[in-house]
Amino acid sequence: MDRNFSAVYPGSFDPPTNGHLDIITRASNLFPNIIVAVTDNVNKRHTFALQERIDLLRKSTKYFKNVEVLSFSGLLADYLKKINSFVLIRGLRALSDFEYEFQMALMNRKLNKKIETIFLTPDQSYTFLSSSMVKEIAMLGGSAKTFVPKCVELELKKRFRNR
Ligand code: PNS
Repeated sequence: MDRNFSAVYPGSFDPPTNGHLDIITRASNLFPNIIVAVTDNVNKRHTFALQERIDLLRKSTKYFKNVEVLSFSGLLADYLKKINSFVLIRGLRALSDFEYEFQMALMNRKLNKKIETIFLTPDQSYTFLSSSMVKEIAMLGGSAKTFVPKCVELELKKRFRNR
């Protein structure tokens, strides 16, 4: 087995939150290399463009020596095969996440039988946090300061300034 593999933390990150950063921190302490894989799903409407999401993640993770931010399109299972990885990291905040995550983990394993999904739980202060809630708060004029990295806060302010 290649001991130098990268564990992959995939997601939309639209935008990245402190909850995502918490999971990246935990994963980076567990695995030698982490690839944060940002989905380039053309069927999904994102608030932030792919390159914006990548840039925000790169800024937010610049102090991690073993974290790289990349994008992928198509099936995640195929992407893992392509980069020779078999470990997926997903955050599990609450029981409500479980059904979707369980289904995804099993489907990914069906598509690529080598894949193992590792679930990490963020600090309990992030259990209620999601990108969509953060966007709603910013959109309605609230402050996202305590929920997201500084660069994301500034970008949210710019984005929803005129609403
Ligand atoms: O942060 P999200 O939106 O919960 O991330 C979901 C993501 C991007 C991990 C998932 O939608 C995904 O893997 N998309 C790629 C397409 C794919 O492989 N779909 C089948 C998943 S079982």
